[in-house]
Amino acid sequence: MYQTKIAGLGKYVPENVVTNDDLSKKMDTNDEWITERTGIKERRHIKKGDGNTTATMGVKAAKIAIERSGISKDDIDLIVFATLSPDYYFPGCGVQVQEMLEIDTCPALDVRNQCSGFVYAISVADQFIKTGMYENILVIGSENHSGGLDFTTRGRSVSVIFGDGAGAAVLTRSDHNGQGIFSTHLHSEGKHALELSLKGPSTNHWVPEIIAENPQGDDIPYYPYMNGQFVFKNAIQRFSEVINEGLKENGLEVADIDMLIPHQANLRISQFVQQKFKLKDDQVYNNIQRYGNTTAASIPIALTEAWEEGKVKEGDVVVLAAFGSGFTWGSVILKW
Ligand code: UT7
Repeated sequence: MYQTKIAGLGKYVPENVVTNDDLSKKMDTNDEWITERTGIKERRHIKKGDGNTTATMGVKAAKIAIERSGISKDDIDLIVFATLSPDYYFPGCGVQVQEMLEIDTCPALDVRNQCSGFVYAISVADQFIKTGMYENILVIGSENHSGGLDFTTRGRSVSVIFGDGAGAAVLTRSDHNGQGIFSTHLHSEGKHALELSLKGPSTNHWVPEIIAENPQGDDIPYYPYMNGQFVFKNAIQRFSEVINEGLKENGLEVADIDMLIPHQANLRISQFVQQKFKLKDDQVYNNIQRYGNTTAASIPIALTEAWEEGKVKEGDVVVLAAFGSGFTWGSVILKW
């Protein structure tokens, strides 16, 4: 069996900064509520005409990751793209990336695991590298949330949270024994699928049906629905469990964690996990204050920034952990 390491990281966020005050001009909300309940101060939104889509942002992040990895784009054996907001219903964004990066035909697949998407995508890539089937894999998490949110007061409990952006990592076969991904841990619990979901349009809930069912337009299934408090409670439980699972599998203690990069769902969730594990401030990385929740992009954006700021260094034990719609959750334990 081979071992996988992360050879390069990149991120891209749209230039357009949307503050809490900006949102309060569109809906009944305010900076105090958003800051207190979520920690978010601002997020980025694609602006019509700026050329950004889920796929193009993914490509921008990928180009940086590829350059930093020192690996030629032509040596990429597989593209794994995680998103809940693809450019098209089908095909997935992975094939768009293959085209935009001008990579000769290569396999490309999309992962549909929402906030856990990047952790799932890393796990998928890791299996291919471990077994020796592929050597270099481009993993991308990218989201265009702003194009599909309800920015009226009706949608405020969801729309203030989410932001747009992309992160990418080039995974490759590790030359050094002991450096790279130790293990990945994945879970799902589909009985809660609709607690955080976007129900339509879908093949069993098509547009005319939606319009017929909602003549007043009150219950609109084409905006995301989130049972916030229920998701919150499950998130803090599952984050803790899946971090512990990863540590146990590798014979590690909490004290061995150099950096925890949690999916940026809500600053209060990260703080709860930090307190539960008694981690110091410099052992947990958060940037939700600046980007909001970017779902599949949040971990690669945070990991990229942590690395750029020198907070993830060679030899560090890094833990990635995520929870989200599905419900799905997972963790990655690695040595940088
Ligand atoms: O990333 C995937 C996983 N997602 C998560 O982990 C998110 C988990 N959930 C959460 O982060 C929180 O539940 C939210 C941030 C979504 C909501 O915070 P909350 O403390 O659970 O608030 P709430 O939904 O219980 O709403 C409390 C009050 C309500 O008013 P009343 O009924 O008490 O009068 C809401 O109508 O806050 C109101 N409210 C708002 N007020 C101002 C909801 N959204 C807003 C808003 N601005 N944006």
